[in-house]
Amino acid sequence: MSMTTHRIALIPGDGIGPQVIAAAWAVLQKAADKAGFKLLGTEFPWSCAFYKETGSMMPADGIETLRGFDAILLGAVGWPAEVPDSVSLHGLLLPIRKAFVQYANIRPHRLLPGVQGPLKAERFDILCIRENTEGEYSGAGGRVHQGTADEVAVETSIFTRTGVERILRFGFEQARARRGKLASVTKSNAQKYSMVFWDEITRHLASEYPEVEVTSYHIDAMAARMVMAPETLDVVVASNLFGDILTDLGAATQGGLGFAASANINPARDAPSMFEPVHGSAPDIAHLGIANPIATIWSGAMMLEHLGEKNAADAIMAAVEQATTSGIGTVPGKDKTEAITAAILAAL
Ligand code: NAD
Ligand code: IPM
Ligand code: MN
Repeated sequence: MSMTTHRIALIPGDGIGPQVIAAAWAVLQKAADKAGFKLLGTEFPWSCAFYKETGSMMPADGIETLRGFDAILLGAVGWPAEVPDSVSLHGLLLPIRKAFVQYANIRPHRLLPGVQGPLKAERFDILCIRENTEGEYSGAGGRVHQGTADEVAVETSIFTRTGVERILRFGFEQARARRGKLASVTKSNAQKYSMVFWDEITRHLASEYPEVEVTSYHIDAMAARMVMAPETLDVVVASNLFGDILTDLGAATQGGLGFAASANINPARDAPSMFEPVHGSAPDIAHLGIANPIATIWSGAMMLEHLGEKNAADAIMAAVEQATTSGIGTVPGKDKTEAITAAILAAL
């Protein structure tokens, strides 16, 4: 009997990226061994260092190279001291999300046992779903009269019916599979075209999902609700930029960016999905060896679940929770990346 093999593209990236990918990969390998399948990793050095050597963040055929893999595990991209973020992110991370139609960015926010969050509420379990391919990140725009007093910068958000409908439908499906509550986030009181369009499609789809209780919120009110009453939320669906901001807020509610996992999903499964922590390259702590690897390990568990290895994914999360229950990795900066990883490996 031949063993199932999943082929994974590893893109460690910049700053703490390589540190958290090394940690997650060790945990994933152990989980695979125990569950009886194989993870075959191929590492790509695409990063800001690669850019400085070659003049691009990835080779011209980078996307085609990645297409052959079952999934992508990414650390973090960006080293703003040497390469502008507008170059590095538009040269690697954002093109992957768009090219592989990873339109659903899933980001869970809940407190792991033993982690002291900043909120009064301790029992909340929110699944943020962020539109990941268009909206405010469409990249349509330009600058004219550059460098003069008459300079103009235009950046157009693009919302298509296809794009809005598919992310909302994804949100309804997730809500139906969870606690049946969907919060749709817009700013339709101020943005009267795109966001009104989004609200209309939300109402339209609601009739197809009578078992889901859907509520529309404005983004400002949602930001406050996630702090004051996170336990009232189940699935939260938002546009690209709103979802980006809300999920760093969500990360804060769960104890910090070191705990926030993320999956960029291609629901049609006609191209690889990508798994990465919510956080970036953390230049401020990159040389200290104290990056929390839990966000990336959790993202790795989401990857295994996506690949059909639910038992191994559950085993990883149980090991993470065993470590945090005993206080390991729960206080930012206290434990070294390696110590946290070792505790999780031991629990596994
Ligand atoms: P950041 O997420 O890298 O860091 C914000 C703060 O959180 C910092 O104080 C950092 O030390 C802390 N932090 C982040 N991850 C941590 C972890 N695992 N453990 C402990 N502390 C952690 O955000 P930033 O500083 O705005 O961005 C730095 C670079 O990363 C920029 O180039 C940015 O564009 C890029 N970035 C990339 C991604 C990505 O690749 N997905 C995501 C966000 C930011
Ligand atoms: C994230 C990041 C990226 C985003 C940046 C680095 C472009 O902040 O994944 O949350 O905004 O999508
Ligand atoms: Mn972000």
